Amino acid sequence: MSAETNKRLQKIADFARNYLEEAYKKRDDKEGLKRFLSGFDYRWQHTQRVAQFGKIIAEAEGADTELVVAACLLHDIAWFDVQGDNSRDHGNIGAEIARPFLASLGYAPEQVDNICYSIASHVTVENPNTLEANIVSDADNVDRFGPYRILQWCYSDIDDYEKLTDKLRERINRLEHYRANNPLATETGKQLFAEQLHLQILFFSEFVGESELSVTPQL
Ligand SMILES: [Fe+2]
Repeated sequence: MSAETNKRLQKIADFARNYLEEAYKKRDDKEGLKRFLSGFDYRWQHTQRVAQFGKIIAEAEGADTELVVAACLLHDIAWFDVQGDNSRDHGNIGAEIARPFLASLGYAPEQVDNICYSIASHVTVENPNTLEANIVSDADNVDRFGPYRILQWCYSDIDDYEKLTDKLRERINRLEHYRANNPLATETGKQLFAEQLHLQILFFSEFVGESELSVTPQL
């Protein structure tokens, strides 16, 4: 990509980071969010990883990589603006926040539409009608099943071994279902998702296996 493209993407990253951080500061449940590993730091790190996965998938699938990376950087921008039942609105709200900013960077109207459609549809639209939007959703889902999520799955029940083991046993079933019916849209997304599933299933299976060793041996 050209230096000019990278400069534009850096401006988008700065905008997204600042917006997320300011919105997080306004939340009065910061401690709870942090406790569940879901504070600003996690959200911003997730955002950047989604942009990295988006780049890999876009290049492999022949999509417009700049539009994909821009949308990935902005996809969760409204994350802290919504709570509870309204959390699925973060896509639509995020697209509205991003629209005037993207226009101010000099993107053409159809490019702005493409990016905003990806942001809006990543939460609610099952089969988006642009390649770029499918890639943003795929990149999001790849990171939602990454190593950090292994920690998140374990973290809340770390002090209750039996409960955690039962929970992970159930989780393995769910993950096996995803492995049999890979729900991602693009071939590259499916591959990356399968790699994440492999790691999670392997780790959780080893964990459950270890629990079966946590008894005194019988000779
Ligand atoms: Fe996300």
